[in-house]
Amino acid sequence: MLGRVNHVAIAVADLAAATAAYRDTLGAAVSQPQALPEHGVTVVFVELPNTKVELLQPLGDTSPIAAFLEKNPSGGMHHICYEVDDIILARDRLVEAGARVLGDGQPKAGAHGKPVLFLHPKDFFGTLIELEQA
Ligand code: CO
Repeated sequence: MLGRVNHVAIAVADLAAATAAYRDTLGAAVSQPQALPEHGVTVVFVELPNTKVELLQPLGDTSPIAAFLEKNPSGGMHHICYEVDDIILARDRLVEAGARVLGDGQPKAGAHGKPVLFLHPKDFFGTLIELEQA
């Protein structure tokens, strides 16, 4: 079911500082910040030869990233995104297997305009999983 790692997401309190660190200290190509109000984040993509890293900063009062940063004030790995060929098929198989899909269970458009879903971290060894239809 799982394909490539699409990205690893890191929650940060200061997106400008994190972007500068990836660009200037680590020497990576970084995107312009992109606001995704539907997901409660502003995101910067770090483009790597084999995958991407997403730097996430909370956007709005109800951002899911805000609670994460309260528990992890210096930031931390927030989720890993795997590609799937068919997100509905993947969701139905996972639900049948007892996994919990977050929210209303319907795919939403993710940062790349493609449908995404999130799986409960307690079902996958403490790691929030995002599935993206590639
Ligand atoms: Co993501």
